Amino acid sequence: MKFAEKAQQLQPSLTLVISAKARDLQQRGKDVCSLSTGEPDFPTPSFICRAAEEAMKAGHTRYGSAAGEPCLQEAIANKLHQDNKLTYSPDEIMVSNGAKQALYTLFQVLLDPGDEVIIPAPYWLSYPPMVHLAGGRSVIVPTRQDRNHQLGAAALAAAITPRTRLLVLNSPTNPTGTVYPEQALAELASVLRQHPHVAVVSDEIYEYILYGQSRHVSFGVVAPDLAERTFVVNGFSKSWAMTGWRLGYLAGPQPVLHKAVALQSQSTSNVCSFVQYGGLAALRGSRECVHTMVAAFARRRQVVLQALGSMQHVHGLAPQGAFYAFLNIAATNLSSVVFCERLLAEAGVAIVPGAAFGDDRAVRLSFATDAITLKRGLKRLQEFLAGL
Ligand SMILES: Cc1ncc(COP(=O)(O)O)c(C=O)c1O
Repeated sequence: MKFAEKAQQLQPSLTLVISAKARDLQQRGKDVCSLSTGEPDFPTPSFICRAAEEAMKAGHTRYGSAAGEPCLQEAIANKLHQDNKLTYSPDEIMVSNGAKQALYTLFQVLLDPGDEVIIPAPYWLSYPPMVHLAGGRSVIVPTRQDRNHQLGAAALAAAITPRTRLLVLNSPTNPTGTVYPEQALAELASVLRQHPHVAVVSDEIYEYILYGQSRHVSFGVVAPDLAERTFVVNGFSKSWAMTGWRLGYLAGPQPVLHKAVALQSQSTSNVCSFVQYGGLAALRGSRECVHTMVAAFARRRQVVLQALGSMQHVHGLAPQGAFYAFLNIAATNLSSVVFCERLLAEAGVAIVPGAAFGDDRAVRLSFATDAITLKRGLKRLQEFLAGL
């Protein structure tokens, strides 16, 4: 069977492949510590589950509006206003099957063949394949660990060409944990002002998962004058431990949003109706559950930082947000894939090769896992490194 050209390079997401491999080994009786997945290990808070159950009982089991349940669109607009100081009307919001589908849809409606999308590396691994599937071309701009993995204004300016259509920003960043300060965003906005053909999408899925003094600033706050070409992507997966619910959203100027909703209506119709009422409860409810989970991530982050201090051959920055440690392994002289394969086979620890995120000299360790598994995994990593 011949594939479409755009499908020929398509591979499953490496993070999901590694998690599946670790699960498979576990099922075959091997003792594996999985530090690979990008999802909270907590159950979804019960008040959210109850709201979805009640919605189902109340008959929210039919096709709904392609843009989302109006009450959820409104709650998202309120949230963006209160938490992010962004002004969007409910009809500038589209509810999607996770932040992932919001990004996918946006790329589909914005990109023509050959259009360029600037992606700072290390990046979340799904951006380039999604750009490719939309016919676009990813322009990967490396960032430096000694500059806290932030895209700088000069590097952005140098990457822009007449074909550039979009810049992808992600703060807090997966996989590095970088949080862009207001000043850094303002400098990027200054560059974009000189290039009116370039739009920006700000992926803010980890916005509440912050450590120490880090503060999340939405790109739109530093550049309200760029609102006509700014998009916000966010979702419920990480903050409310709702990865399996598949609930996210896209906010942006109406003409593009209308096209995105039209695409959604022709592809998935709408996000599962009763799931949206779970999201509504999350937004309307107390944030206590979010704070509790973030406090647990913060304790585990300390465990990781302490363990890293006594490890040979690896170093990394303390993550300011999200729940990953991105470790430079250049001193091991191993490629990131070989490093991870050996770590899994020889020490029973699953982590993700940096090659998947555009940096083959690094690996990503997730601390969104229970403290016991985390401590055992770190001890094994320490012993593995000592034996290299
Ligand atoms: C940076 C980033 N954006 C988007 C997503 C997708 O999230 P969702 O589960 O809402 O599709 C992830 C999930 O890993 C992510 O890390």
